[in-house]
Amino acid sequence: MRAKIIGTGSYLPEKIVTNDDLSKMVETSDEWITTRTGIKARRVTDYGTTTSDLAVNAAKKAIESSGINPLELDFIIVATCTPDTLFPSVACILQDRLGAKNAGALDVSAACSGFNFALATAASFIESGKYKNILVVGADTLTKYLDWQDRNTCVLFGDGAGAVVLQATEEDCGILSSYLKAKGEGGQFLVMPGGGSKDPELRNSRFINMNGKEVFKFAVKALEESVVEALKLAHLELEDIDFLIPHQANIRIIDHVLKKFNLPKDKVYVNLQNYGNTSAASVSIALDEAVKINKIKKGDIVVLSGFGAGLTYAANVLKWG
Ligand code: ACO
Repeated sequence: MRAKIIGTGSYLPEKIVTNDDLSKMVETSDEWITTRTGIKARRVTDYGTTTSDLAVNAAKKAIESSGINPLELDFIIVATCTPDTLFPSVACILQDRLGAKNAGALDVSAACSGFNFALATAASFIESGKYKNILVVGADTLTKYLDWQDRNTCVLFGDGAGAVVLQATEEDCGILSSYLKAKGEGGQFLVMPGGGSKDPELRNSRFINMNGKEVFKFAVKALEESVVEALKLAHLELEDIDFLIPHQANIRIIDHVLKKFNLPKDKVYVNLQNYGNTSAASVSIALDEAVKINKIKKGDIVVLSGFGAGLTYAANVLKWG
């Protein structure tokens, strides 16, 4: 039994913040942000919009494109590090708002790697024979946790959500392998200090704190290792990749690995220029866009890879069905 993606969807908030907009707020420039990151714009939620608002819209589109009814969903997994509340989970909010009365629900916290962790978890539930249809969502609103005076972080992130419906299949397609890893010893390089049990009253910062150089060094290795090792688990080689969807954090991280893999640019999806780093949503939004513009064909070997806070990193290899 394998788990096959039968529907995709994504949703982005309407408000666009460009590099020029940011250069009116902090000492930066379109030229600096473009050359150091590749990002030109990002989407930002307004104050009243929550992660579940984005997630529910992406989920509805994925369910619609899958052709199943929400009542047929056995389980919902949402990858997010910016839930509406510490509890209930975003997955439970979705279960209610989608009318998925028969589904269990759970959030996964692995920051920007979250969608890949959630996808692998869902695939394991299906491969075990436990469930038939699972909704997997990546959704984050990291702009709510940005210090808009800190040019080191505020230029990098955006908000969004992406979703897929996974279904059990006996066909020769679906998720072939998953490689899920963590390096907890590097956790201090990317931290959201406030709001947890260590600081419930937010006496310390409630803003993202990042050591960009250390995260960059980790990210390059994490992307490379996750892709190579996930392919090995699927008994495939780099030459077998038809399409790679890496986490959309920085074009220099992607370019570095493409060069190392000797992979042509047309085999890689990049949309970070439009949305910045949308954390757990990034790979799922990119997958939905690539599917919609027919970049992915039946039988293609597709690799999804993510890396982020934790530190965490993960990849899934799929044969598109
Ligand atoms: N505009 C102008 N100047 C800036 C800006 C800015 N927005 N940000 C930093 N600078 C300055 C710095 O202050 C520094 O100035 P100094 O030399 O006078 O001290 C100079 O530019 C160079 O800064 P560096 O940090 O060396 O720049 P670098 O080339 O390393 O790029 C960046 C910084 C883009 C943050 C890079 O390190 C990076 O992308 N790191 C990875 C970040 C990432 O992907 N994080 C998310 C992980 S996923 C998740 O789970 C959330």
